[in-house]
Amino acid sequence: MNRNRRAWLQYMAVVGAGAGLGTFGGLARAAGTSPGRMKLGLIGTGRVGGALATVWAKTGHELMLSSRNLDDDKALAAKLGPNVRAGTTRDAASFGDVVLISVPYGALPEIGKTVGDLLKGKIVIDTCNPFVNRDGEIATWAREKGAGLASAELLPGARIVRAFNAIGFARMGAAHEQPGKVGMPIAGDDKQAIETASRLVRDIGYEPVLVGGLAMGRYLMPGTPLAGERTPDEIRQVAATLK
Ligand SMILES: NC(=O)c1ccc[n+]([C@@H]2O[C@H](COP(=O)([O-])OP(=O)(O)OC[C@H]3O[C@@H](n4cnc5c(N)ncnc54)[C@H](OP(=O)(O)O)[C@@H]3O)[C@@H](O)[C@H]2O)c1
Repeated sequence: MNRNRRAWLQYMAVVGAGAGLGTFGGLARAAGTSPGRMKLGLIGTGRVGGALATVWAKTGHELMLSSRNLDDDKALAAKLGPNVRAGTTRDAASFGDVVLISVPYGALPEIGKTVGDLLKGKIVIDTCNPFVNRDGEIATWAREKGAGLASAELLPGARIVRAFNAIGFARMGAAHEQPGKVGMPIAGDDKQAIETASRLVRDIGYEPVLVGGLAMGRYLMPGTPLAGERTPDEIRQVAATLK
């Protein structure tokens, strides 16, 4: 088991053990805004993918978890409930009406090769941030191009919305405690994809704030003025100063 996976499972043990459905009681109300269940495929089930899987599972959506470690994903799925399964990355990409990709940026070219055909035309939520010290040269390229446009080049035909990029994973399960109070900056070019992603963002208690097209995705990462937890109005004010 790798270090990140172990850290995630430890986090889950702390959050999950004390919580159960009780702590997430507000989530059902947040989920009340979305009567229809969606099929969500997750590629990457580490800190971010795992945190989002945990809260989306509680909203009743159907989930298929995937990474390169099926055993860990099966164990996580069993913890999260009967609406959560695990499979290969191709299984998750086929299954999802929406696919969340939450892997180190350096893994995106491989994902493009292995599941890119299945992602053409699909709504893809991209949480991935490029960091040179972790991801190498591709991160330099992605930062120059802008992370949203770079992801679109690596996953051609996918209807990408950048979201969940600039908030730490440990807070991703908490927004439902005060639904609508914390904003989630998102960026995308496809209207329907933005609407669907917005619904999923709202389902777990964030208020989505569209800051612009995929080109604005370069601001959705740590170290930019949009990083960190802000109210929806604060995000709009900051976004208005960016080009
Ligand atoms: N941590 C944060 O607070 C945070 C917040 C916002 C955004 N982000 C960004 O979101 C992304 C994920 O971050 P994280 O912290 O969740 O990372 P993480 O804990 O390291 O998890 C990464 C996940 O991706 C999987 N993975 C790696 N390579 C893969 C491949 N080639 N095919 C399929 N699965 C693969 C890993 O599992 P296996 O290695 O077992 O395959 C693991 O499940 C990153 O780009 C990060 O910069 C992170």
